[in-house]
Amino acid sequence: TQSLTVRELLMKMKELLLFLSCVLCVSADGQHSDIKIAGCSDSYGEDVYALDGEEIAYADFNKQKEIYPQPPFVDPMTVTGAYEQAVANQQICRANMQNSRKGMKDFPLERDAPSAVMIYTRDEVEFGEENTLICHVTGFYPAPVNVSWTKNKEKVTGSSINVPYINKDGTFTQISRLDFTPQLGDTYSCKVEHLALTEPATKFYVVEASAQPDSGVGPSVFCGVGLTLGLVGVAVGTFFLIKGNECS
Ligand SMILES: *[C@@H]1O[C@H](CO)[C@@H](O)[C@H](O)[C@H]1NC(C)=O
Repeated sequence: TQSLTVRELLMKMKELLLFLSCVLCVSADGQHSDIKIAGCSDSYGEDVYALDGEEIAYADFNKQKEIYPQPPFVDPMTVTGAYEQAVANQQICRANMQNSRKGMKDFPLERDAPSAVMIYTRDEVEFGEENTLICHVTGFYPAPVNVSWTKNKEKVTGSSINVPYINKDGTFTQISRLDFTPQLGDTYSCKVEHLALTEPATKFYVVEASAQPDSGVGPSVFCGVGLTLGLVGVAVGTFFLIKGNECS
């Protein structure tokens, strides 16, 4: 009979770990993709550069400069002359649009209303703790949408919105943010206007008592059960790995 010593078992475990770490390193080395969007319409234009879905740079045509909305932990990426290039791209885009209009005899404008509007908070809600409300609008064409916010039915200002980001299917996504401090019973709304909507789409967010996570046993039970299942999985996997090797 074959019985495995602890030493052999450890060797097998090492093989397994090596295998696992290889899987991890492959996924960490995966490909990146960047995208450059330069677009225009009669009333709007955008010029943005993004990496893996994150905005790296965009042209702010009101402030007349390039904005680099990058988090503090990255080596800043900037491009000299980016704003001037963006302005030139807009002129080219508008000229192309005119030519297409002439060539295609006033092609009809495609119109897709937003397919989804979602409202949620950035962080878990704690009463009195600063947080951010997010209004996520997607699936529309053409860009952009207008998003406005209310608190207890009164207009609020101070929200921000990112430049339209293009989806794989050619429609757009825009995300509006509003900093807020949750107080029980407050109601917020985000109102979305788009060319293809006859009425604005409005989503509400109510600060409810149940929003407060009860820091009771729930999470630790979840963690315990999850960890146990994970360990059992590894043990079973190791067992079959060894059994499989014995048979061959
Ligand atoms: C968005 O707001 C601007 C400025 O108020 C307005 O000119 C434009 O028509 C609005 N767009 C939509 C789709 O409602």
